[in-house]
Amino acid sequence: MPKIVAISNQKGGVAKTTSCISIAAALAEDGRQVLMLDLDPQANLTTACGFDPDELDWTIADLLIPEGSEEIPSITEIIQHSVMEGLDILPADMRLAALERRMYDQAGYENRLEELAESLSGYEVILIDCPPSMGALTLMGLSAAQMAVVPVQCEYFASRGLMQLLEIVNVVKDQTNPELRFYLFASMYDQRNLVSRQVLESLQEHFSENMFDTIIRIDTRIRESAMVGEPIHMYAPKTRAADEYRALAQEIITIL
Ligand SMILES: Nc1ncnc2c1ncn2[C@@H]1O[C@H](COP(=O)(O)OP(=O)(O)OP(=O)(O)O)[C@@H](O)[C@H]1O
Ligand SMILES: [Mg+2]
Repeated sequence: MPKIVAISNQKGGVAKTTSCISIAAALAEDGRQVLMLDLDPQANLTTACGFDPDELDWTIADLLIPEGSEEIPSITEIIQHSVMEGLDILPADMRLAALERRMYDQAGYENRLEELAESLSGYEVILIDCPPSMGALTLMGLSAAQMAVVPVQCEYFASRGLMQLLEIVNVVKDQTNPELRFYLFASMYDQRNLVSRQVLESLQEHFSENMFDTIIRIDTRIRESAMVGEPIHMYAPKTRAADEYRALAQEIITIL
């Protein structure tokens, strides 16, 4: 069975998708077989890998809503290879949004991803890009994962959102996934900003046991790489951002 990491934070725009693709690429660069799973109806991860969600024959939505599709594809038919060797993606499209609304009525929906993952023995690691909400899709992602990895932007309101997230993690631990562990890291960090420095310090103090040492700083090359549809380790492998994500991936894999 592959190890599963869910990149999650209900706050929007904190670098979940960027971190998913960059951590995955760093692991693949290191010779591992890695699958990224797009669990966001926005399908930003799918797009960042260079795919147009509307042009794909199948996406993860077809696995999760089998009724409605005439023919149910196998998971291997849906998986796409990325531009990097060893790095694959299970793409998403906007139908996931409608699916999420119907999921609450389905008993045991939280376990659907874990069941799917059991058929993916060829991968060492699966990284799930969760949407910016705490709905059924995120609960499904957290229920399947061994580890929730939470990017935090060091801003004034960061800790309030984190408390809500930790409550959800505790609910998932109680109800579906007692093994779930969570770790934070600082994303899009701006060291010139005093508030950022103070927030980082307070996070490191409060979450000392649950915080990765690596800090991901702001780097415009990361934005460019998403626009060309390539991971930073392909687009600009010698940049600071690529190195920082290598260090973070190493920290994650060491304790996964
Ligand atoms: N280290 C970084 N330096 C500069 N820009 C970054 C960095 N990390 C992410 N970004 C940019 O910040 C924006 C938000 O990132 P991203 O889409 O990964 O966030 P997200 O948490 O997945 O958003 P959403 O909640 O909408 O899914 C993107 O434009 C991305 O390119
Ligand atoms: Mg995203």
